[in-house]
Amino acid sequence: MDDRIDELREKRERALKGGGEDRIESQHEKGKMTARERIDYFLDDGTFNEFDQFRTHRNHKFGMEETQLPGDGVVTGYGDVDGRKTFVFAHDFTVFGGSLGEVFAEKVSKVMDKAVEVGAPVIGLNDSAGARIQEGVQSLGGFGEIFRRNTEASGVVPQISAIMGPCAGGAVYSPAITDFTFMVKDTSHMFITGPDVIKTVTGEEVTFEELGGAMTHASESGVAHFACDSEEQALDQIRLLLSYLPPNNVEDPPRVEPWDDPERADESLNSVVPDQPRKPYDAHDVIDGVLDEGSFFGVHEEFAKNIVVGFARLDGHSVGVVANQPRVNAGTLDIEASEKAARFVRFCDSFNVPIVTFVDVPGFLPGTDQEHGGIIRHGAKLLYAYSEATVPLMTVITRKAYGGAYDVMASKHLGADVNYAWPTAEIAVMGPQGAVNILYSDELDAAEDPDARREELIEEYREEFANPYTAADRGFLDGVLEPTETRARLVEDLEMLRSKRKSLPDKKHGNIPI
Ligand code: COA
Repeated sequence: MDDRIDELREKRERALKGGGEDRIESQHEKGKMTARERIDYFLDDGTFNEFDQFRTHRNHKFGMEETQLPGDGVVTGYGDVDGRKTFVFAHDFTVFGGSLGEVFAEKVSKVMDKAVEVGAPVIGLNDSAGARIQEGVQSLGGFGEIFRRNTEASGVVPQISAIMGPCAGGAVYSPAITDFTFMVKDTSHMFITGPDVIKTVTGEEVTFEELGGAMTHASESGVAHFACDSEEQALDQIRLLLSYLPPNNVEDPPRVEPWDDPERADESLNSVVPDQPRKPYDAHDVIDGVLDEGSFFGVHEEFAKNIVVGFARLDGHSVGVVANQPRVNAGTLDIEASEKAARFVRFCDSFNVPIVTFVDVPGFLPGTDQEHGGIIRHGAKLLYAYSEATVPLMTVITRKAYGGAYDVMASKHLGADVNYAWPTAEIAVMGPQGAVNILYSDELDAAEDPDARREELIEEYREEFANPYTAADRGFLDGVLEPTETRARLVEDLEMLRSKRKSLPDKKHGNIPI
């Protein structure tokens, strides 16, 4: 028996070394942790339970039979994050460059299947050279198996990807389907075709970092939701993100012990919105004043900065926050902002996270770029996402809600549960200036002093429309609140809405404009 136990111990010892000391050293020299170091850092101490530690590839081509490395390039299993069950797979770059072959894919598929069966999140730590060349179509088949599972698991369990090394070619599509992608600055890169191929095909010269580095994807393409300074920071942030999420789509997010007075009336809220309608302010000041202090966790912060999305807490309950950002492009909705917010709203709706929307939107961004880029169908995504959402929707109009954008931003008409405005709200088809120019063009042309007359008419229009009271009269708003009252009211409303049960007509799935 002792011999057998020694043999097992030796095998385990061997497996823990992955591709060997030299390759581990080279991984460290690149500023990267190994797969096992990442898992150890990520999970609660001593909670990791590994699957398939001894699996090896079945390939007999290109001399592969000579090299059998236990684990086959990916470490898989489950453990705890803050005491909550979480599945992980971590590519082991020290084994065949973390390249994906048949057995590797079977291991990843196994944890994904188990995660869906038991209803727990899946976290993928990616660091891979992509399809294992020696295994040919079996590698491609393996990717396909994973993509299908990513898709089937979407909306069932949260899926989070961290990119901690290369992620190229077909390999990018698994992270792309997952809910959130984290990248590490300088050491991670994502692209379909690399700089060499691009140079050959298009003649463009581009570095790895410019093409597919963390900041490129966080700010330009929107592929990454988070660009982190280090692997540790990425793993810490994933743990924090998970704290806002339920383990699956049939459970509610965990509530934490509230630390902020539910009745706190932040006096600064009464002066956040400037008297001058065109003067910007920071949407974060509104968020911080209303939600639990210090609870806001921004998502996609570098991308489409004209809209802010993220998680926060309201009396300890997890909520999603969407807010137009008047500081960037006056908070207009454009293609990227619509996509960013639509995807976030759909995530929250999939996972029972109520949504608080703060509205200050002068409309959709005008311009041929936007029109030709398809703002019509992209803008429709946000409309669609709010309309199909069945989670509690709470909306506060702080200032402008003009035109179609009024409807889009979680209006009563799309099915929001409670809608409020601050006294500074202006709800109209368009701003006073534009409206007066259209409505009174003949009169203004004929006027002795067109500027003075325009000012008079603007003032009249402002009194008639640039306020919340017509919408309140129609019941499109449930109330007009002093800003300081907002927090206490939303806390009460969330409590009231916690038992909300709403379902949509049975269908296979909708057809969101994509
Ligand atoms: N299949 C099988 N093995 C691969 C591989 C692949 N696709 N890519 C790399 N490897 C192996 C290398 O042979 C090397 O093996 P070794 O440790 O036994 O020497 C190991 O992985 C590390 O690769 P290396 O090139 O030394 O690392 P690097 O950090 O210098 O470069 C890459 C990493 C990913 C940029 C580079 O390996 C590369 O471009 N690989 C091909 C990527 C690709 O086109 N994949 C298919 C896309 S779907």
